[in-house]
Amino acid sequence: MDNLKETLQNVEDGLTLDREQFKKCVQSNIVLLTQAFRKKFVIPDFQSFTSHIDELYESAKGLSEGKVADYIPQLAKFSPDLWAVSLCTVDGQRHTVGDSKVPFCLQSCVKPLKYAVAVNDYGTEYVHSFIGKEPSGLRFNKLFLNEDDKPHNPMVNAGAIVCTSLIKVKAVQHLFYVMNFLKKLAGNEYVSFSNATFQSERESGDRNFAIGYYLKEKKCFPEGTDMTSILDFYFQLCSIEVTCESASVMAATLANGGICPITGERVLSPEAVRNTLSLMHSCGMYDFSGQFAFHVGLPAKSGVAGGILLVVPNVMGIMCWSPPLDKLGNSVRGIQFCTDLVELFNFHNYDNLRHFAKKYDPRREGGDQRTIKCTLCVCRLALSSVDMEQRDYDSRTALHVAAAEGHTEVVRFLLEACRANPAPKDRWGNTPMDEAAHFGHHNVVGVLQRYQDICSPPAADNHQGGAEKNLDTFF
Ligand code: DON
Repeated sequence: MDNLKETLQNVEDGLTLDREQFKKCVQSNIVLLTQAFRKKFVIPDFQSFTSHIDELYESAKGLSEGKVADYIPQLAKFSPDLWAVSLCTVDGQRHTVGDSKVPFCLQSCVKPLKYAVAVNDYGTEYVHSFIGKEPSGLRFNKLFLNEDDKPHNPMVNAGAIVCTSLIKVKAVQHLFYVMNFLKKLAGNEYVSFSNATFQSERESGDRNFAIGYYLKEKKCFPEGTDMTSILDFYFQLCSIEVTCESASVMAATLANGGICPITGERVLSPEAVRNTLSLMHSCGMYDFSGQFAFHVGLPAKSGVAGGILLVVPNVMGIMCWSPPLDKLGNSVRGIQFCTDLVELFNFHNYDNLRHFAKKYDPRREGGDQRTIKCTLCVCRLALSSVDMEQRDYDSRTALHVAAAEGHTEVVRFLLEACRANPAPKDRWGNTPMDEAAHFGHHNVVGVLQRYQDICSPPAADNHQGGAEKNLDTFF
């Protein structure tokens, strides 16, 4: 857009570009633009996808349960009605709904991010010589260590405080350093600092001081660590502010393996991203982590300000924000949104196993477009006199595949125009009808049933050569 504006200023009528000028405008973004015009983005039908997102947002908006955290005035001030969802795909497609420009503190959502910074800078081995990788099964702020006297993981306070000490020991201007890192994760979008929150966190942080002294007693910090200054740094990191929009880009950078989809810059190593997502998956949602992994099946991290940072690996990052929290400390509307999202789309880690019930997959082309393409492809093959009853290694025919995938038009074409045998058996003895029934494609079952009722199945040696003759009838 910048190129375009600049070039148009020098164009006589202010509107028309010649070929060279056009080329100059698009060449630095040619890959992105080509992907856009060819509908090759990870979510090809983005408009339809985002209209579903808006519906899920609206449905969660009606919830009135939960309580806004009130242990410090900077959190208590938030209206319980605030509610926002922002998303950014790995191709940089953006969508946002609700109060997505209101700044709020990351609080515990910063835990996975600082862990990622630590692993990025110092490697897995060093970081995990101080911190475990196991869910604790206890509340996030418990005074408790594992059998080796280490914090259970970096997502609970004890682990996050030790993680903070690893960054502080090595970086000189540590707060500036981490904020700068977060800014890069967010594609240079909104990242700020609330000094008032920091002061309040420090004043009300007795439990964290207790954890700090316990960690010191058990020699959990690197040598020479000044525990009280580490706690200050911990409280400062909790007080870093984002908006729903900027945080969605942070999540998208994790979804994209550490490369920010907005700037194209590699911000985190693949190792740091993989570790972070693994621990978010198993430990990111307080005492609800197991249930969240079971029902939603995606890496996420929540914070006491009401944020939930959600990652759909290789697809998108999402930030949900709404201050009212449930008993376990997770945003009520955020949890509802994440659960509904995965009920509708096949984003759960184990949604895509073979022979699994199908959910809506926004990564694919829309149903209509796919059907047209498939039908045209099959027509083309039939017109080239290809044997439409050829079998693959598993003895499956085109009709098996079309029936299993629910392509009603292709099934009709194979039966009516190509006179394909309607009941061939594959090597497991399954017919196209079995496939259609198994995958719940009731239209296809109906077509196959009607065809079998009307026509007696053609003899095995009499199926070919009818394609051209019957094409007209079919259409
Ligand atoms: O450490 C605390 O108590 C808070 N400032 C952190 C808040 C939070 O989000 C809870 N996290 N696990």
